[in-house]
Amino acid sequence: MAPLCPPPSASSARPCGSAPARATLCFWLCVRGARHGISVLTAAPSVLQQHRLVHHAVIPHGRSGRSSVSGIVATVFGATGFLGRYVVNRLGRIGSQVIIPYRCDQYDLMYLRPMGDLGQLLFMEWDCRDKDSIRRAVEHSNVVINLIGKEWETKNFKFEDEFVNIPQSIAQISKEAGVEKFIHISHLNASMKSPSKYLRNKAVGEEAVREEFPDAVILKPSEMFGREDRFLNHYANMRWFGGVPLVSLGKKTVKQPVYVVDVAKAIINAIKNPDAEGKTYALAGPHRYLLYDMVEYIYAVAHHPFIPYPLPRPLYHLVARFFEMNPFEPWLTRDKVDRFHTTDMTFPDLPGFEELGIEPTPLEQKAIEVLRRHRRFRWLDAELEEAKPKTQPM
Ligand SMILES: NC(=O)c1ccc[n+]([C@@H]2O[C@H](COP(=O)([O-])OP(=O)(O)OC[C@H]3O[C@@H](n4cnc5c(N)ncnc54)[C@H](OP(=O)(O)O)[C@@H]3O)[C@@H](O)[C@H]2O)c1
Repeated sequence: MAPLCPPPSASSARPCGSAPARATLCFWLCVRGARHGISVLTAAPSVLQQHRLVHHAVIPHGRSGRSSVSGIVATVFGATGFLGRYVVNRLGRIGSQVIIPYRCDQYDLMYLRPMGDLGQLLFMEWDCRDKDSIRRAVEHSNVVINLIGKEWETKNFKFEDEFVNIPQSIAQISKEAGVEKFIHISHLNASMKSPSKYLRNKAVGEEAVREEFPDAVILKPSEMFGREDRFLNHYANMRWFGGVPLVSLGKKTVKQPVYVVDVAKAIINAIKNPDAEGKTYALAGPHRYLLYDMVEYIYAVAHHPFIPYPLPRPLYHLVARFFEMNPFEPWLTRDKVDRFHTTDMTFPDLPGFEELGIEPTPLEQKAIEVLRRHRRFRWLDAELEEAKPKTQPM
């Protein structure tokens, strides 16, 4: 069958007028052809070509809200995690298209669905070891965000897989697919010298990503707090064990936790900021606290008695070893003990929140959001009173 709309070179006459008019006419001819049962396959490429060249999803328009078009088409790996939901929410509310690769049950991502306008969130199953599935997830995106991580090792995935091999594959395939911006989340304390295997692999992962995608933006947040965190909630839940064990009573560890929403905002601002390319950002909260003071404050806000006791690290590891036997989600691991008792590093030479135009939120302002659920009923509405953690010099 002859093509319904021949390419311009095939005919010297220009029956359809200008190029957009020709494309429109061609499109309608295809639709009419399809309605009448005529095969439109021969005509389809020219129409698709038009769509690809001026893909409406990447031309920003509208009033910059949920139903506008931000121009960002982002693949978010690890969207089903703690930070992921805040990132997807921020992307959705500015009118971005978000591709969400997932490996969990459909029901476990229901809460993500209302975060974007109709049809703007696209879910696809993926397998981190299948390069084709990674390619499918990134091939239409101009931004790729890697939030993959796990707090414990499993039979199938070691920290090396989580923090080095998977980010490396995603970065390499994103580069090949012509992705413009790659955002990788590392950790503030990522270091080859760390006692924590998690943090050592995070350091190797940063280098691997830089090697594959030199312009990648690497964000290094400290421990994040927020409603679903595994930091403040972890310490608050320790009351079930009769007290809070701390190595050296937490008086040798300094923490500078960061609010999860600030990290999500930093990711969006890094996408929008062309100067961010190739940079590494250190993202920490505005105040530093002794671990002891911070946990004491957690118990003050939660209205529970604070009963700390010193536990030597080897003994703490022994307890954690017991929890590690849980085949599902170990509440404590030896690595977590080491990570939580690592003093947060400071990076005066690296850019941070300020360069991304964000004022970090203090723990004192948002702790109640996380900890109210740990209060007993009669304290549920109680005011915060004057409880304030002592801060350390920067
Ligand atoms: N939480 C913190 O305080 C903190 C601090 C600094 C840096 N970070 C880093 O920030 C990133 C996000 O942290 P988060 O707390 O949001 O992590 P999270 O809650 O543990 O979520 C991790 C995400 O990665 C996915 N994932 C893990 N292993 C996977 C695999 N093998 N294949 C496919 N998907 C996999 C998980 O999918 P499933 O839901 O299917 O498991 C989940 O969506 C991580 O890289 C983490 O190391 C976190």
